[in-house]
Amino acid sequence: MFSRISVQALRTFSSTSQRNANVAVLGASGGIGQPLSLLLKQSPLISKLSLFDIVHTLGVAADLSHIETKAQVKGFVGTEQLKDSLVGMDVVIIPAGVPRKPGMTRDDLFNTNASIVRDLVDACAQVCPKAIVGIIANPVNSTVPIAAEVMKKHGTFDPKRLFGISTLDIARANTFVAEAKGLDVSKVNIPVIGGHAGVTIIPVISQATPSVSFPQDELEKLTVRIQEAGTEVVNAKAGAGSATLSMAYAGARFTISMLNALAGKEGVIECAYVKSSETEASYFSTPLLLGKNGLEKNLGLGKLSDFEQELLKKALPELKGSIKKGEDFAHK
Ligand SMILES: NC(=O)c1ccc[n+]([C@@H]2O[C@H](COP(=O)([O-])OP(=O)(O)OC[C@H]3O[C@@H](n4cnc5c(N)ncnc54)[C@H](O)[C@@H]3O)[C@@H](O)[C@H]2O)c1
Repeated sequence: MFSRISVQALRTFSSTSQRNANVAVLGASGGIGQPLSLLLKQSPLISKLSLFDIVHTLGVAADLSHIETKAQVKGFVGTEQLKDSLVGMDVVIIPAGVPRKPGMTRDDLFNTNASIVRDLVDACAQVCPKAIVGIIANPVNSTVPIAAEVMKKHGTFDPKRLFGISTLDIARANTFVAEAKGLDVSKVNIPVIGGHAGVTIIPVISQATPSVSFPQDELEKLTVRIQEAGTEVVNAKAGAGSATLSMAYAGARFTISMLNALAGKEGVIECAYVKSSETEASYFSTPLLLGKNGLEKNLGLGKLSDFEQELLKKALPELKGSIKKGEDFAHK
């Protein structure tokens, strides 16, 4: 089943599986990094939480280290400490990079974030080549292919262990559909496939649990709202950044699902953006069964409605362009 996190769930998960995972957050002092690290600090699945950033990490780590939970927190600051922060890591989550301001697309972040992701993943490939890597830094549609190419150069690329974290799109789809239908949001699950930017975000409302239906005009509005939900936050923050708190929740949900699966919990499913042969785009997000080695089985697109087929047609050219842009950058 798709997983949710809550403080209660964080504790319940631990009783079903005992874990001692080492998790690193790269970009841990940022708007996402800090609340994400706070949520991860609450998980008894984690024994070491390694926080890396180019600024302020020692303060963030000192602060979090006073919380009465198991994970031992250590801060690493500045590029000279990057490799130390990665020693022995099982999972590395990367929210490092600049966020959008009003009027910007995720692709406008490419010039800055591409090299940040390249350099961080290069260090991961050298120090913890077997780690699961989850990328939050935008544009995810390009940063994941960049990461894969860097790993290939080191001979460490394993498509089962590299994920673009698109969980926030699923959280948003669940929330908006539950609101529209007056449903208990904790019981709503909407797969969101494709990529993580504008038209590449494809909510598959025809596969919703529980089953829901909308008149076509409402369905179109809802789809656009899910696709543009990040921009809603960027505009409301009016220059102060993009989604941070909901993204921290989504990043923690994905990470904890992954840790549970790595630890042997069965039936853990999350959508994420991975190397894929499900469509003509070589990276694509679909529901994935997670397991002891990361991606266990790609569950594919499932049956799409005619409307969703149209969304897929619109998404593929943009997605393929973003993938190529990332790969070209990595080969420069
Ligand atoms: N995948 C998603 O759904 C999603 C959602 C929201 C935001 N994002 C993306 O996440 C990224 C971070 O957003 P934010 O709001 O936390 O930004 P932020 O500016 O608040 O924080 C970014 C952090 O990264 C750090 N950083 C910069 N260069 C670094 C480097 N080389 N090594 C380590 N750390 C470095 C900065 O010091 C800062 O602390 C952005 O690219 C944003 O677009 C993704």
